[in-house]
Amino acid sequence: MKIKSVDLTISAIRRSQYPEGENAEYLLIGRSNVGKSSFINTLINRKNYARTSSRPGKTQTINFYNINEEFYLVDAPGYGYAKVSKTKRKKFGLMIEDYIINRKNLRCVFLLIDFRHKPTNDDILMYNFLKYYKIPTVIVGTKSDKIGITQMQRQRNMIINELDLVVGDEFITFSSITKDGRDEVYKKIQRTM
Ligand code: GTP
Ligand code: MG
Repeated sequence: MKIKSVDLTISAIRRSQYPEGENAEYLLIGRSNVGKSSFINTLINRKNYARTSSRPGKTQTINFYNINEEFYLVDAPGYGYAKVSKTKRKKFGLMIEDYIINRKNLRCVFLLIDFRHKPTNDDILMYNFLKYYKIPTVIVGTKSDKIGITQMQRQRNMIINELDLVVGDEFITFSSITKDGRDEVYKKIQRTM
């Protein structure tokens, strides 16, 4: 995929701010620090366009990145980070749930899970939530550069088992360092846009 233009259209804090029009949207979701903003930067070939941080809880709005005027990548705050205030967590939790359930433009969710570890309870809850609402989902195993080649298949099977992955959902390993998985993600977007 050729990235011709990238534009942060809006950092939304309420539903009325979501972009108008029919362009397909792809939501990134996952626990804080899993690599959602890095995933976007890798897809658009920029270093720090979507702001990343070693401090969890960096992203605090729903950010719509307009790519090539064709589709949106949607970056959301991570879950499972205790230091973000309870009220804020609740507010964004509800906002993201509402987005997932009601947003017509949403084509598919990329659920990011740290490839090195077992899915957390929050990861499993999120996956079950997506499946309850029949949202097409791609599991993205992030930071794959930290896993040796001999362990790749084992980690992959472990995560697929733990989540009890539904037939039709895909699993892609991903690294913002080696660019592992980037082409597969492009293909998924091109197929569904
Ligand atoms: P929040 O906005 O807080 O929810 O975090 P996020 O999910 O957007 O994570 P972010 O992209 O900010 O990355 C968090 C940390 O993980 C940063 O220090 C990144 O450099 C690091 N990181 C992200 N992706 C990778 C990867 O593929 N490999 C390695 N080794 N580190 C990564
Ligand atoms: Mg982020």
